[in-house]
Amino acid sequence: MKGVILAGGNGTRLHPITLGPSKQLLPVYDKPMIYYPLSVLMLAGITEIEIITTPDEVPAFRRLLGDGSRLGISLTYAEQDKPRGLADAFLVSADHIGDDPVALVLGDNIFHGYEFGPMLQRLSRSVQGCYLFGHPVRDPERYGVGVLDEQGNLVSIEEKPARPWSNMAITGLYLYDNKVVDFARRLRPSERGELEITDLNRIYLERGEATLIPLGRGFVWLDAGTHDALMEAGNYVQVLEHRQGVRIACLEEIAWRMGYIDREACHRLGSRLAKSPYGQYVMEMAEAG
Ligand code: G1P
Repeated sequence: MKGVILAGGNGTRLHPITLGPSKQLLPVYDKPMIYYPLSVLMLAGITEIEIITTPDEVPAFRRLLGDGSRLGISLTYAEQDKPRGLADAFLVSADHIGDDPVALVLGDNIFHGYEFGPMLQRLSRSVQGCYLFGHPVRDPERYGVGVLDEQGNLVSIEEKPARPWSNMAITGLYLYDNKVVDFARRLRPSERGELEITDLNRIYLERGEATLIPLGRGFVWLDAGTHDALMEAGNYVQVLEHRQGVRIACLEEIAWRMGYIDREACHRLGSRLAKSPYGQYVMEMAEAG
């Protein structure tokens, strides 16, 4: 399975912060935002990942993450010159996806939950149709919203409905079989001029090939797309990391634990950041084994 991270857009809801840096490079407590969605794909066992961003921002992402080889993965970069919608990702990354299934994750989405990696690994081994992930929220009108029937089958999906029929937001992580590229080519821009992911998911829904997996109460899903959400995400990560003494979305640790790099390589990566508590954590963790 291939991975795609969509990290484009102008971040207008975060102005003036994003007049300078790209949204997905802003800090969420101790690490850049993009570490969180990247960690999700790495935990899912995906090692060939394309990052889509604006032409101006490619150098900054490349400076941060390089070609991925130090993490034992492959990272490529693709350009989306203006926000053409989430579903445009499959057109931009068609060559990268090739004949494989694909996981798309939005660059401002943060997931944290027990055994999430193993669950994604299981799902990604046999994707048929599409798998969406739902999470209950207080403000479903800000999101794509899914409605399940009593048997747990997905029966409808709406994008930012004024009067939502459920509180189940559809999160920014999507697993698709290879038909997605073809389906994305058939889409027409919506009224706001974008290829909508919800229209794409509806094609799967109409074919009876869309599954919504509710992420339960013990699961945390945050997006960092507004000032408050960004602050809350940072606070959440800080509290969790202080309390437990572990770091989440620590790419070096994940690369080592997933077997993409060995312990010595992990330690070396930590030593390059040794003046920061993040780097010290990576080194200590690699030393503890
Ligand atoms: C997008 C999708 C929406 C989804 C959300 C998740 O919305 O269009 O369906 O629920 O991401 O973060 P956006 O945040 O781009 O408005």
